[in-house]
Amino acid sequence: MELIRLGPGFAAEVCGPGLADVARSDEAYQAVRAAFEEHSVLLFRGQPITDELQLAYSKRFGPLEVAKAASRAEGTPFSVLTNVEPDGTLVPPDHKEALRARANQLWHTDSCFKDPPALASVLSVRILPGSGGETEFASKRLGWERLPQSTRARLADAYAWHDYAHSRGKISPKMISERERAALPPVRWRLRWRNPANGRDSLYLASHTYAIDGVPQDEAQALLAELIDHTTAPGHTYMHGWQPGDVIMWDNRCVLHRGRPWPDGEPRHIVRTTITATDADGLAEMRPLTRAA
Ligand code: OGA
Ligand code: MN
Repeated sequence: MELIRLGPGFAAEVCGPGLADVARSDEAYQAVRAAFEEHSVLLFRGQPITDELQLAYSKRFGPLEVAKAASRAEGTPFSVLTNVEPDGTLVPPDHKEALRARANQLWHTDSCFKDPPALASVLSVRILPGSGGETEFASKRLGWERLPQSTRARLADAYAWHDYAHSRGKISPKMISERERAALPPVRWRLRWRNPANGRDSLYLASHTYAIDGVPQDEAQALLAELIDHTTAPGHTYMHGWQPGDVIMWDNRCVLHRGRPWPDGEPRHIVRTTITATDADGLAEMRPLTRAA
């Protein structure tokens, strides 16, 4: 296996093994898993992608998430984001899927608003627009390492709240239903995620994050925005322009990502599978400490 560096200090293209190799060979899985722990974003090119192949690859890394209530693929392991109707026409600009695409353009981490949250996401683009529609990534691990020591000390044991309704509310107050809101109550995680494979710390926050325990609300909102700006500052991101056959996997513990816009009237259809984090991925330490009974 060969790795080609893509981004500023993170992200790499995997050359050699493809998704099918990882699905069937322990050796290929171990090599790709090690690259994932180290580089946070992995690109595979020229993949003969199908739902089955994406599923077989993704399942190697852990249990899969089931799509959210009221999403297009509810109850399946696929999260589909598309502006293409089943009959091939495009949705109008005020359609829920168009709003979802806009919300997706906020810097975020998949499923930090869930318990358990996500370890990783695997994304394939099935229909590409003629231009735009890139996906951009930033490393929260490198963001953490660039923070002054005093800030890191202050944040290391802090806990922050995440709510899907918070980020959706930035796009439209009507974007999510009462049913969706009830299905996803706010959750709290430590602001620093330590990777047990290498001991490296990362910030853990996203556009879904709205409060920090013990910090006044306006101060917390300002700090959260500043930390996202710091992490995603110019020169620190990797922007991926998709080609047919590309598949990207990223580590939600330590990567922020966002979709980029594309021209109106052009189709874009992506399929994501999401791997759930377990205690082996460092999740246990993310939970608020509870006093022993
Ligand atoms: C996602 C996502 C980015 C994109 O599917 O989780 O954020 O470019 N996608 O569509
Ligand atoms: Mn996402």
